[in-house]
Amino acid sequence: MSGGVSGAPPRVLCRLEEIADGQAKGFDLGDDAIFVVRAGRQVYAYRNACPHTGGPLDWDDEGFMSDSGEHILCQTHGALFRIDTGACLAGPCLGDCLATVAVALDGHDQVVLTQVKGVEVPAT
Ligand code: FES
Repeated sequence: MSGGVSGAPPRVLCRLEEIADGQAKGFDLGDDAIFVVRAGRQVYAYRNACPHTGGPLDWDDEGFMSDSGEHILCQTHGALFRIDTGACLAGPCLGDCLATVAVALDGHDQVVLTQVKGVEVPAT
């Protein structure tokens, strides 16, 4: 059972093709800032807040990814995070984790939030 709320539409962030494979895209949700990382047809999303200081990972507009594209990078002090879990692998917040945001691909190749203000919404 998903706990979905009937009649509550998913919040469409963008089309999958708007995020290059291996890259990320930021979104301002008004009361929150998040980013979505694409790995093929998988999408992962996190709050744009580094566990080290709480500041945005992309403060200098250099994006969210390391040069190799293998990890999420905080541009401030260089912390590296796993793409699939948000776990910090190196840097001052080693052992901490980015805050996950629930997203999914819907049946139209759109990236949608699947939880809005704590309420689950279906991805289809
Ligand atoms: S604020 Fe992210 S590593 Fe320091």
